[in-house]
Amino acid sequence: MFDIQEIRSQFSILDREVNGKPLVYLDNAATSQKPNSVLEVCHAYYTELNANVHRGIHTLSQLATEEMELSRRKIQKFINAEHDFEVIFTKGTTEGLNLISYILTQKLKKDDEIIISYLEHHSNIVPWQLLCERTGAKLRVIPIDENGILQLDYFDEFLSEKTKVVSVNQVSNALGIVNPIEEIIAKTRKNTDAYVVIDGAQSAPHFNIDVQKMDCDFFVFSGHKMYAPMGTGILYGKREILEALPPFHGGGEMIATCSFDGTTYAGLPFKYEAGTPNVGGNIALGAAVDFMNGVGRENIQNHENALLEYAQRHLLEIEGLKVYGEKAKRVGVVSFNLEGVGISSDVGMILDKMGIAVRTGHHCTQPIMEFFNIAGTVRASFAVYNTFEEIDLLVEGVKKAQRMLS
Ligand code: ALA
Repeated sequence: MFDIQEIRSQFSILDREVNGKPLVYLDNAATSQKPNSVLEVCHAYYTELNANVHRGIHTLSQLATEEMELSRRKIQKFINAEHDFEVIFTKGTTEGLNLISYILTQKLKKDDEIIISYLEHHSNIVPWQLLCERTGAKLRVIPIDENGILQLDYFDEFLSEKTKVVSVNQVSNALGIVNPIEEIIAKTRKNTDAYVVIDGAQSAPHFNIDVQKMDCDFFVFSGHKMYAPMGTGILYGKREILEALPPFHGGGEMIATCSFDGTTYAGLPFKYEAGTPNVGGNIALGAAVDFMNGVGRENIQNHENALLEYAQRHLLEIEGLKVYGEKAKRVGVVSFNLEGVGISSDVGMILDKMGIAVRTGHHCTQPIMEFFNIAGTVRASFAVYNTFEEIDLLVEGVKKAQRMLS
């Protein structure tokens, strides 16, 4: 049974006040709060288990290694990867996307093409621009319409034998729009032999993820947006692709042998995990997966969809409020502005005085803001612990901001 008060009781931070008001945390697309079970795993790791992994004969090192590898298997199940060694620990989505774009360098040449979309976060734009600079490849960008929906007829035109990479997000961080990645992947497979990269930073917290069914080559996401600590993330890559590509960082852990005559590389996943990992964080990411499975991923999705529908309906009752992507299929996010109120941060500051945390500004998606000819939006984003009463407070807060700023 879905018991929102029981779920909220697992997040101690939700009991605190901000500016003398109970915290209303609606900035979950930036980072979610962490349940006590995840925090306890972090604490237990440092008080009972702290040791480096994969390199110690002593008991603590072996226990820490076992726990981290157990967590890898939990994440394997979470995304339905075929093998646990296809799950690489990273420090987040940004690192995952930079890693992929770097290891593909030798696979691209001048005038090859990389397709992304207008809805991407800067972290799914800039690494590809850097790859273009290194190789002479060109970036093609799937445009959006006035609802923020990808115009796939352009994508059809872009696809050719020149296409070497297609990299899109499953859900837009700025607008919450759910992109038709099934169609994008199917068309890419049918017409090209391009690598398919899916940015799952904003989908993994909300959806069931099945990378085998999806048939992507790479899937990246962050732990900290799905109830795990900061500095955790996952890169999934298909076995045969990761085995064939070169390493990213060089250093300890990623070698099989190292000498001045040459170095050979470790097998997966270690080839891509140079240096000491965030062991405690990686173990706690497994605990976050346990938390989500415990609540039930269908339950999470149903609750968040209901919150979004309720928030949009009531916000749109405010005269002069525009929701970006209003007509698009969305999850977890409502992004809006008030007519006549040019600066979204002014609204954010008034909400903050009422204890309500939202994100304002361009959300690291300046091309989207440019498309809508705005400097930024007010973005409320939801997690499983949010309530309808909190949305009522948001709506009241936005009305108050409108009165003060118009
Ligand atoms: N990418 C994160 C966001 O959308 C930080 O807020």
